[in-house]
Amino acid sequence: MASLAPTRAHEIQSEKGNPHWTRLASESALDHIPGEDGWPLVGTTFQQLADPIGFGQRMQARHGPVFRTRSFGRRQVTLIGPDANELVLFDRDKLFSSEQGWGPVLNLLFPRGLMLMDFAGHRADRRALSIAFKPEPMRHYCDLLNSDIARVVEGWGEGERLFYPAIKALTLETAATSFLGLPFGPEADRLNQAFVDMVQAAVAPVRRPLPFTAMGKGVAGRKLMVDYFTRLLRERRANPGQDMFSQFALARRDGEVEGELLAEDVVVDHMIFLMMAAHDTITSSFTTLIWQLAAHPQWQDKLRAEARAAASGTGSLGGKIMPYDALGQMEQADMAFKEALRIMPPVPSTPRRALREFTFGGHHIPAGTMVGISAAAVHADPATWPDPERFDPLRFTPEAVAARHKYAWIPYGGGAHMCIGLHFAVMQTKVLLHHILSRYVVETAPGYAPAWQAWPIPKPRDGLRITFRRIS
Ligand code: HEM
Repeated sequence: MASLAPTRAHEIQSEKGNPHWTRLASESALDHIPGEDGWPLVGTTFQQLADPIGFGQRMQARHGPVFRTRSFGRRQVTLIGPDANELVLFDRDKLFSSEQGWGPVLNLLFPRGLMLMDFAGHRADRRALSIAFKPEPMRHYCDLLNSDIARVVEGWGEGERLFYPAIKALTLETAATSFLGLPFGPEADRLNQAFVDMVQAAVAPVRRPLPFTAMGKGVAGRKLMVDYFTRLLRERRANPGQDMFSQFALARRDGEVEGELLAEDVVVDHMIFLMMAAHDTITSSFTTLIWQLAAHPQWQDKLRAEARAAASGTGSLGGKIMPYDALGQMEQADMAFKEALRIMPPVPSTPRRALREFTFGGHHIPAGTMVGISAAAVHADPATWPDPERFDPLRFTPEAVAARHKYAWIPYGGGAHMCIGLHFAVMQTKVLLHHILSRYVVETAPGYAPAWQAWPIPKPRDGLRITFRRIS
C-alpha cells in the first residue's frame, strides 16, 4: 500500500514535465469496459505482478478479450489477441503513443530513447541509428562476440553452475566491447554497476531520488553514465572505432547537411537506452533457451550438430569460431530460439496511450486511455499454440509460420517500434550456442522445474541450476 503515493507522485511528475502528452482519460470514462478495480487503493497491481499470465487468463475468461484493470494507481485497458496486437503495433491510423505508454515507467532514467519517441521524430532518429546494424558493423561485432564468449565459456569448466548470473555477467562483458569498444576492466565494471542501478530504479516503487533508495542510486548511476558517455563520444568522434557507439557517434538524420551529426546529448541518451533494451532481454531469452535445451537433449544434439557443421564449413579456424557468414545456416537454432521467445517473452506486455478514441471488439475506448497488449497471453493461447507449455521448435517451420496470423508471435513487437536489435540478439544467441554446445553437454536434474519471476523481465528465481559436462 505504501508504494501507491510515490507511484502517483512519479506519474504526476512525468505528466507535468510533458505538457504535450494527451490527458489521461478520466476513470469514469472507462466504466463501460468490462473488468475489475481490484482491492481498495492498490487495485489489481499486486495480483498482476504476482502472476501476470494467470491473472490475464482469469480476466479474459471472466470478461472477454477486452478488459479493464486498475494498476499503478490508474485504470488501464488490455486488448488480447493477434488482431489487437496488429491494431496497436502496426498502428495504421497513428492512434497510439509509445512515448506516453512507456514514459511513466522509463522517462526518469532512460529519457529520449527510441521507444520514448513517436512518429516523424522517431522515424528520423531510428533511420539514423540503423547504420549500426548494417552487415559491415555486424560482422565486426560478431568477431568480438566470438572472442569474448569463447574465453569466458572455456573458463566455466565442468560442474553445476547458476546459469542466469553467469550469462548476465557475460552479456555485460560483451556489451562493453561490442557496444562501447571498451576492454573489459575496472572502467567497464563501474559503468556496469551504474547501469544495473538504473535498471533497478526504473521499476522501483519509490520514485523520488532520495538517498539510499533504488531511485537515488539510479539517478546517480545515470549521471555517471551521461558524464562518461559524453567524454567517450568526443573521443569516438575524433578517433572512431568499429564499435556500436562509434557508429552512433557518426550517425546523421536524413537530409541534414553533410557534416552535421546528431547532438551529443541525443547520441548519449540513445546509447544508454539501447544498452538497457539489449541487456536483460538477451539474458532472459538465452536463459530460457538453455533451460529448454537441457530438458530436451534431442534438440540439444541437433543444434550442436548444426552449429558444428556451420562453423566448420567456413573460415580458416577449424570450427573454433562461428563466422558471421555461417549464421544463416543455423536454421534449427533459429526455430529453437523463436520457440524460447514464445514460451517466455522477455517483454511480456507492451503499453501505449490512445491519442484519439477508437473502437475494438465492439468497445468504445476514449482518447487518453492507457492501453496494453500482452505477448505472454497471446503466446500461451492453446487455440493458436496447441499444448502451449510444450517446447516444440517445429512450430516455426516456414509452413507453420505461413499458416498463422502474422501477429500471433510478437516477442520483438512489430510496426514502427519493432526491435531494432533483433538481428544482434539472434547473432549473439547463435555465437553463444556454438561456444557452449561445442564444449559442453548441458543438463538439469530429472524433474527440475524452476519457478520464474515474471516482472519486470522474466528470470528464474533460483538462478537456473545447469550442469555442464565437458565433451571430450
Ligand atoms: C531477445 C532479445 C530482445 C527482445 C525480446 C527484444 C524485444 C523488444 C521489443 C518487444 C521492442 C518493442 C517495444 C514496443 O513496441 O514498445 C523492442 C524495441 C527495441 N529494442 Fe529490443 N529486444 C531484444 C534485444 C535487443 C537488442 C540486442 C537491442 C540492441 C542491440 C535492442 C534494442 C531495442 C531498441 C533500441 C528498441 C526501440 C525501438 C524503437 O522504438 O524504434 N533490443 N525490443
